[in-house]
Amino acid sequence: MTRKDPRTLRSARWFAPDDLRSFGHRSRMMQLGYAEEDFRDKPVIGVLSTWSELNTCHAHFPERVKDVKRGVLQAGGFAVEMPALSVDESFTKPTSMLYRNMLAMETEEMIRSHPLDGVVLMGGCDKTTPGLVMGALSAGVPMIYLPAGPMLRGNYAGKILGSGSDAWKYWDERRAGNITDEEWLGIQGGIARSAGTCMTMGTASTMTAIAEAMGLSIPGASSIPAVDSGHQRMASECGRRIVEMVWEDLTPGRIVTAAACRNAAVVAMATGCSTNAVVHLIAMARRAGVDLTLDDLDELGRVTPLIANVRPAGKDYLMEDFYYAGGLRALMKQIEERLDCTAMTVTGKTMGENLQGAEVYNDDVIRPLSNPVYHEGSLAVLRGNLCPDGAVIKPAACDPKLHVHEGPALVFDTYSEMKAAIDDETLDVTPDHVLVLRNAGPLGGPGFPEWGMLPIPKALIKQGHRDMLRISDARMSGTSYGACVLHVAPESYIGGPLALLKSSDIVRLDLPNRRLDMLVDEEELARRRSAWAPPAPRFERGYGYMFSRHVTQADQGCDFDFLQSDFGRAAGEPDI
Ligand code: FES
Ligand code: MG
Repeated sequence: MTRKDPRTLRSARWFAPDDLRSFGHRSRMMQLGYAEEDFRDKPVIGVLSTWSELNTCHAHFPERVKDVKRGVLQAGGFAVEMPALSVDESFTKPTSMLYRNMLAMETEEMIRSHPLDGVVLMGGCDKTTPGLVMGALSAGVPMIYLPAGPMLRGNYAGKILGSGSDAWKYWDERRAGNITDEEWLGIQGGIARSAGTCMTMGTASTMTAIAEAMGLSIPGASSIPAVDSGHQRMASECGRRIVEMVWEDLTPGRIVTAAACRNAAVVAMATGCSTNAVVHLIAMARRAGVDLTLDDLDELGRVTPLIANVRPAGKDYLMEDFYYAGGLRALMKQIEERLDCTAMTVTGKTMGENLQGAEVYNDDVIRPLSNPVYHEGSLAVLRGNLCPDGAVIKPAACDPKLHVHEGPALVFDTYSEMKAAIDDETLDVTPDHVLVLRNAGPLGGPGFPEWGMLPIPKALIKQGHRDMLRISDARMSGTSYGACVLHVAPESYIGGPLALLKSSDIVRLDLPNRRLDMLVDEEELARRRSAWAPPAPRFERGYGYMFSRHVTQADQGCDFDFLQSDFGRAAGEPDI
């Protein structure tokens, strides 16, 4: 393998020339206490950490940054920590999704504008994985993705608790009057009890698995619990490896190919992925110049069995169990024949080489193909007169009797209107009704919030019902479950057909045939369309204004149009 000449390092353009500008750069490094031999002729590695005191999932990052730096130093590199937008899932309003693209822009520009030869991207909480990866793909320097790792299993009164899923579940039980305030408070204290990302197969675990399956992480990294000492060792390995990747000039363009994106999609389906994976996978692939479509994902969904028995799509286990059962390498080994094992990875080896020796230690958690949790994959893409550009549903997470369903719509225009009605015990609603929320998409939400698991009306909860058909142009949390049709495109806010639906119209879902329709005739729809007026703009200034002018629809990945790789030529390297 040819190794880079130190004089051709990207950072050498900042530090090597005997001119006034480089004198400035070197003297400022000396201001930090470094001698020239600390950084000259060495790979300069940016450690991009999405830490903040309000990102509870990344609470261990300050320690992990030290582990990464130790690895970089050992391998003869020079590491600098650089903070990047934290985009936490727990507190960001109206939704963290509004800021995924902001993190992507920040990542790309931070890399481009600084003397970095390679980067270690530290993320994990939902949007941080796609945000960091999208930006770094566009920047193009060698990168490794360091996943935060899942938190420990939740626990209360001897019961195991899963992030998100059990919050929804026990909230419904509380609304039904089945648990006490004391129990509710106990659950509150026990459901998130260590640093790390949500430990169900929610968006965080799905996205870190996707990054690993794309070849961007140290093999096995995404499954290691955040507080396991193995996580520290993985972090220092990231530091050592990125230095070598710089010398090898192993850029993401050589890793994130069409085959890698397809591998990632297959793995997502086999894990019972979050519906959010669809949006992020499309956006990430497009940054790499790979045209992955909703139809590709539906096709893979139809043929890939779900073999990770991890909640919410699986029944019994959490990410900690998944790790003890062998983790993502073991899962990928099970589906090796369905993957392109020649795909290159950050190790400098192929995916197939990385999977050598991987074993399943508990075949109830990671199932063999002969005994899957669910025969088909995790996601299905629907089309019909309600969603001409697509919508997604998670068949494995909904009551099978709703797979084919016809019922009257009950339509809400805003979240607050829906919330008030749902708790009204006199609401005229049956289990056959189809709850609909609109104005909750990328532009309408705004920002594409996770409102898609519409709560079951209190009256029905009290009668013992726990699932019904729900439709929206929103997303839902990866830890959610139920018969929820999401990501309806085009969204209602811009006049998509969902905007024309009225309460009492009959809606029909036919999941086996991938159809979602309103049974309203074309003439009537045309009448409604001509009467429709666009709602007022959500933003008149600031980031939201830019977002609303440039965000693409769900089926396009919700990247900004001008950030997609086919928009135009990438910025060149700074030559000053
Ligand atoms: Fe951070 Fe769920 S809140 S991963
Ligand atoms: Mg989430």
